[in-house]
Amino acid sequence: MSVTGRVTDYDRVAARFDARYALYPYDGVRDTLQHFLGDASSVLEVGCGTGHWLAVAHEGRRAPSPCGMDPSAAMLAQAAARGAKASAERPHLVRARAEDLPWRDATFDRIFCVNALHHFSDRARFFAEARRVLKPGGGLLTIGKDPHTEHDDWWVYRYFEETRAIDCDRFARVRTLRGELALAGFAWTESLEADHIEVVTPASEALASGVVDPRFTSQLTVLSEEEFSRGAERLRAANEAAGGELQLVADFRLYATIGWIGG
Ligand SMILES: C[S@@+](CC[C@H](N)C(=O)[O-])C[C@H]1O[C@@H](n2cnc3c(N)ncnc32)[C@H](O)[C@@H]1O
Repeated sequence: MSVTGRVTDYDRVAARFDARYALYPYDGVRDTLQHFLGDASSVLEVGCGTGHWLAVAHEGRRAPSPCGMDPSAAMLAQAAARGAKASAERPHLVRARAEDLPWRDATFDRIFCVNALHHFSDRARFFAEARRVLKPGGGLLTIGKDPHTEHDDWWVYRYFEETRAIDCDRFARVRTLRGELALAGFAWTESLEADHIEVVTPASEALASGVVDPRFTSQLTVLSEEEFSRGAERLRAANEAAGGELQLVADFRLYATIGWIGG
Protein backbone atom coordinates (compact mmCIF):
# COMPACT_ATOMS: atom_id res chain seq x y z
CA MET A 1 0.00 0.00 0.00
CA SER A 2 2.91 2.38 -0.57
CA VAL A 3 1.81 5.86 -1.56
CA THR A 4 3.14 8.35 -4.08
CA GLY A 5 6.86 8.78 -4.67
CA ARG A 6 6.59 12.49 -3.78
CA VAL A 7 8.45 12.70 -0.48
CA THR A 8 8.70 15.85 1.65
CA ASP A 9 12.14 16.65 3.06
CA TYR A 10 11.12 17.89 6.52
CA ASP A 11 14.69 18.73 7.47
CA ARG A 12 14.42 21.46 4.83
CA VAL A 13 11.18 22.97 6.12
CA ALA A 14 11.65 22.58 9.90
CA ALA A 15 12.73 26.16 10.63
CA ARG A 16 9.60 27.63 9.01
CA PHE A 17 7.09 24.89 9.75
CA ASP A 18 5.31 26.61 12.65
CA ALA A 19 4.36 29.65 10.49
CA ARG A 20 1.09 27.81 9.79
CA TYR A 21 0.08 28.03 13.46
CA ALA A 22 0.14 31.85 13.29
CA LEU A 23 -2.41 31.78 10.44
CA TYR A 24 -5.12 29.63 12.02
CA PRO A 25 -5.82 28.46 15.62
CA TYR A 26 -6.98 24.88 14.75
CA ASP A 27 -9.39 24.96 17.71
CA GLY A 28 -11.34 21.98 16.34
CA VAL A 29 -8.19 19.86 16.19
CA ARG A 30 -7.26 20.93 19.72
CA ASP A 31 -10.70 20.02 21.12
CA THR A 32 -10.83 16.70 19.26
CA LEU A 33 -7.36 15.76 20.48
CA GLN A 34 -8.01 16.69 24.11
CA HIS A 35 -11.33 14.85 24.13
CA PHE A 36 -9.67 11.76 22.63
CA LEU A 37 -6.83 11.82 25.19
CA GLY A 38 -9.13 12.23 28.19
CA ASP A 39 -7.17 11.22 31.28
CA ALA A 40 -4.94 8.69 29.49
CA SER A 41 -1.56 8.46 31.16
CA SER A 42 0.70 7.09 28.41
CA VAL A 43 0.47 8.91 25.09
CA LEU A 44 2.50 8.81 21.86
CA GLU A 45 2.38 11.20 18.91
CA VAL A 46 3.66 9.64 15.70
CA GLY A 47 5.00 12.21 13.22
CA CYS A 48 5.16 14.85 15.99
CA GLY A 49 7.23 17.29 13.92
CA THR A 50 8.03 20.47 15.85
CA GLY A 51 5.98 19.35 18.85
CA HIS A 52 3.03 21.77 18.51
CA TRP A 53 0.45 19.04 19.36
CA LEU A 54 2.68 17.42 21.97
CA ALA A 55 2.45 20.69 23.90
CA VAL A 56 -1.34 20.76 23.44
CA ALA A 57 -1.56 17.12 24.58
CA HIS A 58 0.31 18.03 27.77
CA GLU A 59 -1.81 21.13 28.58
CA GLY A 60 -3.84 20.91 31.76
CA ARG A 61 -3.04 17.20 32.33
CA ARG A 62 -1.21 15.77 35.30
CA ALA A 63 -0.06 12.71 33.33
CA PRO A 64 3.63 12.39 32.34
CA SER A 65 4.49 14.38 29.19
CA PRO A 66 3.61 12.49 26.02
CA CYS A 67 6.25 10.81 23.83
CA GLY A 68 6.86 12.20 20.38
CA MET A 69 8.51 10.45 17.48
CA ASP A 70 9.51 11.57 14.01
CA PRO A 71 12.17 10.58 11.46
CA SER A 72 13.29 14.20 10.86
CA ALA A 73 16.18 15.29 13.11
CA ALA A 74 15.55 18.96 12.30
CA MET A 75 11.84 18.75 13.24
CA LEU A 76 12.74 16.94 16.48
CA ALA A 77 15.32 19.64 17.29
CA GLN A 78 12.51 22.25 17.10
CA ALA A 79 10.32 20.05 19.31
CA ALA A 80 13.14 19.70 21.88
CA ALA A 81 13.72 23.48 21.94
CA ARG A 82 9.98 24.13 22.41
CA GLY A 83 9.75 21.55 25.20
CA ALA A 84 12.79 22.96 27.02
CA LYS A 85 11.23 26.46 26.96
CA ALA A 86 7.76 25.37 28.03
CA SER A 87 8.39 23.07 30.97
CA ALA A 88 10.99 21.68 33.34
CA GLU A 89 9.99 18.19 32.22
CA ARG A 90 11.76 17.52 28.90
CA PRO A 91 9.58 15.87 26.27
CA HIS A 92 10.53 12.30 25.48
CA LEU A 93 11.45 12.45 21.77
CA VAL A 94 12.51 9.53 19.61
CA ARG A 95 13.83 9.49 16.06
CA ALA A 96 12.03 6.65 14.31
CA ARG A 97 9.52 5.81 11.58
CA ALA A 98 5.83 5.02 11.97
CA GLU A 99 6.31 1.69 10.20
CA ASP A 100 8.65 0.39 12.95
CA LEU A 101 7.66 1.70 16.37
CA PRO A 102 10.54 1.10 18.80
CA TRP A 103 8.36 0.22 21.80
CA ARG A 104 7.28 -3.02 23.46
CA ASP A 105 3.80 -4.47 22.99
CA ALA A 106 1.00 -2.79 25.00
CA THR A 107 2.94 0.35 26.01
CA PHE A 108 0.49 3.22 25.30
CA ASP A 109 -3.12 4.13 26.16
CA ARG A 110 -3.42 6.53 23.23
CA ILE A 111 -1.56 7.16 19.97
CA PHE A 112 -2.27 10.13 17.73
CA CYS A 113 -1.11 11.59 14.41
CA VAL A 114 -1.96 15.07 13.10
CA ASN A 115 -1.40 15.81 9.43
CA ALA A 116 1.22 13.10 9.25
CA LEU A 117 -0.37 9.83 8.06
CA HIS A 118 -0.18 10.81 4.37
CA HIS A 119 3.59 10.88 4.67
CA PHE A 120 3.95 7.31 5.92
CA SER A 121 5.16 4.89 3.26
CA ASP A 122 3.07 1.93 4.50
CA ARG A 123 -0.18 2.68 6.36
CA ALA A 124 -1.08 -0.99 6.91
CA ARG A 125 2.24 -1.56 8.61
CA PHE A 126 1.81 1.52 10.77
CA PHE A 127 -1.72 0.48 11.81
CA ALA A 128 -0.42 -2.98 12.72
CA GLU A 129 2.41 -1.41 14.73
CA ALA A 130 0.01 0.98 16.48
CA ARG A 131 -2.28 -1.95 17.33
CA ARG A 132 0.73 -3.83 18.76
CA VAL A 133 2.01 -1.05 21.04
CA LEU A 134 -1.46 -0.01 22.31
CA LYS A 135 -2.74 -1.43 25.59
CA PRO A 136 -6.09 -3.24 25.72
CA GLY A 137 -8.83 -0.57 25.53
CA GLY A 138 -6.38 1.85 23.84
CA GLY A 139 -7.13 4.08 20.86
CA LEU A 140 -5.45 5.51 17.76
CA LEU A 141 -6.53 8.92 16.41
CA THR A 142 -5.45 10.33 13.07
CA ILE A 143 -6.45 13.80 11.86
CA GLY A 144 -6.01 14.97 8.29
CA LYS A 145 -7.57 16.11 5.03
CA ASP A 146 -9.74 14.02 2.76
CA PRO A 147 -9.25 15.63 -0.68
CA HIS A 148 -11.50 12.95 -2.24
CA THR A 149 -14.60 14.69 -0.84
CA GLU A 150 -14.00 17.54 -3.36
CA HIS A 151 -15.54 20.00 -0.87
CA ASP A 152 -12.20 21.73 -0.49
CA ASP A 153 -11.59 25.16 -1.97
CA TRP A 154 -7.93 25.96 -1.41
CA TRP A 155 -5.76 28.44 -3.28
CA VAL A 156 -2.95 25.87 -3.26
CA TYR A 157 -5.10 23.47 -5.35
CA ARG A 158 -6.38 26.32 -7.53
CA TYR A 159 -3.06 27.83 -8.64
CA PHE A 160 -0.67 24.87 -8.24
CA GLU A 161 -2.54 22.51 -10.52
CA GLU A 162 -0.63 19.31 -9.76
CA THR A 163 -1.29 19.46 -6.02
CA ARG A 164 -4.86 18.11 -5.89
CA ALA A 165 -3.99 14.92 -7.80
CA ILE A 166 -0.88 14.41 -5.65
CA ASP A 167 -3.04 14.78 -2.52
CA CYS A 168 -5.67 12.34 -3.81
CA ASP A 169 -2.81 9.87 -4.22
CA ARG A 170 -1.29 10.50 -0.76
CA PHE A 171 -4.46 10.82 1.35
CA ALA A 172 -6.87 7.92 1.76
CA ARG A 173 -10.61 8.45 2.02
CA VAL A 174 -11.84 8.45 5.62
CA ARG A 175 -13.91 5.32 4.96
CA THR A 176 -10.81 3.58 3.54
CA LEU A 177 -8.90 4.41 6.73
CA ARG A 178 -11.70 2.91 8.83
CA GLY A 179 -11.61 -0.28 6.76
CA GLU A 180 -7.84 -0.52 7.11
CA LEU A 181 -8.06 -0.01 10.87
CA ALA A 182 -10.62 -2.80 11.10
CA LEU A 183 -8.32 -5.07 9.07
CA ALA A 184 -5.46 -4.27 11.45
CA GLY A 185 -7.58 -5.56 14.35
CA PHE A 186 -9.18 -2.40 15.75
CA ALA A 187 -12.51 -3.55 17.15
CA TRP A 188 -14.38 -0.27 16.73
CA THR A 189 -13.80 2.70 14.42
CA GLU A 190 -15.41 6.12 14.15
CA SER A 191 -14.87 9.34 12.21
CA LEU A 192 -15.92 12.96 12.57
CA GLU A 193 -15.22 16.41 11.17
CA ALA A 194 -12.55 17.81 13.50
CA ASP A 195 -12.02 21.26 12.02
CA HIS A 196 -13.22 23.51 9.23
CA ILE A 197 -10.41 25.82 8.16
CA GLU A 198 -11.71 29.07 6.67
CA VAL A 199 -9.09 31.76 6.03
CA VAL A 200 -8.98 34.48 3.41
CA THR A 201 -5.59 36.14 2.87
CA PRO A 202 -4.88 38.96 0.42
CA ALA A 203 -2.61 37.52 -2.29
CA SER A 204 -0.25 40.52 -2.13
CA GLU A 205 0.25 39.90 1.59
CA ALA A 206 0.78 36.14 1.04
CA LEU A 207 3.34 36.84 -1.69
CA ALA A 208 5.20 39.37 0.48
CA SER A 209 5.15 37.36 3.73
CA GLY A 210 6.48 34.08 2.35
CA VAL A 211 3.22 32.10 2.50
CA VAL A 212 3.59 31.43 -1.25
CA ASP A 213 6.76 29.44 -0.67
CA PRO A 214 7.67 25.78 -1.32
CA ARG A 215 8.33 25.40 2.43
CA PHE A 216 4.87 26.62 3.51
CA THR A 217 3.08 23.29 3.13
CA SER A 218 4.06 19.83 1.91
CA GLN A 219 1.67 20.21 -1.06
CA LEU A 220 4.11 22.86 -2.34
CA THR A 221 7.30 21.25 -1.06
CA VAL A 222 6.79 18.10 -3.15
CA LEU A 223 6.46 20.05 -6.42
CA SER A 224 9.39 20.27 -8.82
CA GLU A 225 10.94 23.76 -9.11
CA GLU A 226 9.29 24.12 -12.50
CA GLU A 227 5.83 23.10 -11.19
CA PHE A 228 6.16 25.52 -8.28
CA SER A 229 7.30 28.42 -10.51
CA ARG A 230 4.43 27.83 -12.94
CA GLY A 231 1.90 27.95 -10.09
CA ALA A 232 3.47 31.03 -8.49
CA GLU A 233 3.41 32.78 -11.88
CA ARG A 234 -0.28 31.87 -12.35
CA LEU A 235 -1.07 33.31 -8.92
CA ARG A 236 0.90 36.54 -9.56
CA ALA A 237 -0.83 37.00 -12.94
CA ALA A 238 -4.27 36.50 -11.33
CA ASN A 239 -3.37 39.06 -8.66
CA GLU A 240 -2.27 41.57 -11.30
CA ALA A 241 -5.47 40.98 -13.28
CA ALA A 242 -7.41 41.72 -10.06
CA GLY A 243 -5.53 45.01 -9.63
CA GLY A 244 -3.55 43.59 -6.68
CA GLU A 245 -6.79 42.79 -4.81
CA LEU A 246 -6.89 39.00 -5.27
CA GLN A 247 -8.00 37.12 -2.14
CA LEU A 248 -6.60 33.63 -1.48
CA VAL A 249 -9.20 31.29 -0.01
CA ALA A 250 -8.47 28.33 2.25
CA ASP A 251 -11.76 26.54 2.94
CA PHE A 252 -11.29 22.89 3.82
CA ARG A 253 -12.05 20.34 6.48
CA LEU A 254 -9.86 18.13 8.65
CA TYR A 255 -11.32 14.76 9.61
CA ALA A 256 -10.61 12.66 12.67
CA THR A 257 -10.57 8.88 12.29
CA ILE A 258 -10.33 6.79 15.45
CA GLY A 259 -9.75 3.10 16.02
CA TRP A 260 -10.33 1.46 19.41
CA ILE A 261 -8.94 -1.80 20.67
CA GLY A 262 -11.20 -4.10 22.65
CA GLY A 263 -10.60 -3.95 26.43
C1 LIG B 1 2.93 17.95 8.26
S1 LIG B 1 4.12 17.41 9.45
C2 LIG B 1 3.09 17.33 10.90
C3 LIG B 1 3.84 17.55 12.19
C4 LIG B 1 2.93 17.65 13.43
N1 LIG B 1 2.15 16.47 13.63
C5 LIG B 1 2.01 18.86 13.30
O1 LIG B 1 0.85 18.68 12.91
O2 LIG B 1 2.46 19.97 13.60
C6 LIG B 1 4.36 15.70 9.07
C7 LIG B 1 5.42 15.03 9.91
O3 LIG B 1 5.41 13.61 9.59
C8 LIG B 1 6.75 13.16 9.67
N2 LIG B 1 6.92 11.91 8.94
C9 LIG B 1 7.18 11.72 7.62
N3 LIG B 1 7.33 10.41 7.35
C10 LIG B 1 7.14 9.74 8.52
C11 LIG B 1 7.17 8.37 8.91
N4 LIG B 1 7.40 7.39 8.02
N5 LIG B 1 6.96 8.04 10.20
C12 LIG B 1 6.70 9.02 11.12
N6 LIG B 1 6.67 10.34 10.81
C13 LIG B 1 6.88 10.71 9.54
C14 LIG B 1 7.54 14.32 9.07
O4 LIG B 1 8.93 14.25 9.39
C15 LIG B 1 6.82 15.52 9.65
O5 LIG B 1 7.42 15.95 10.85
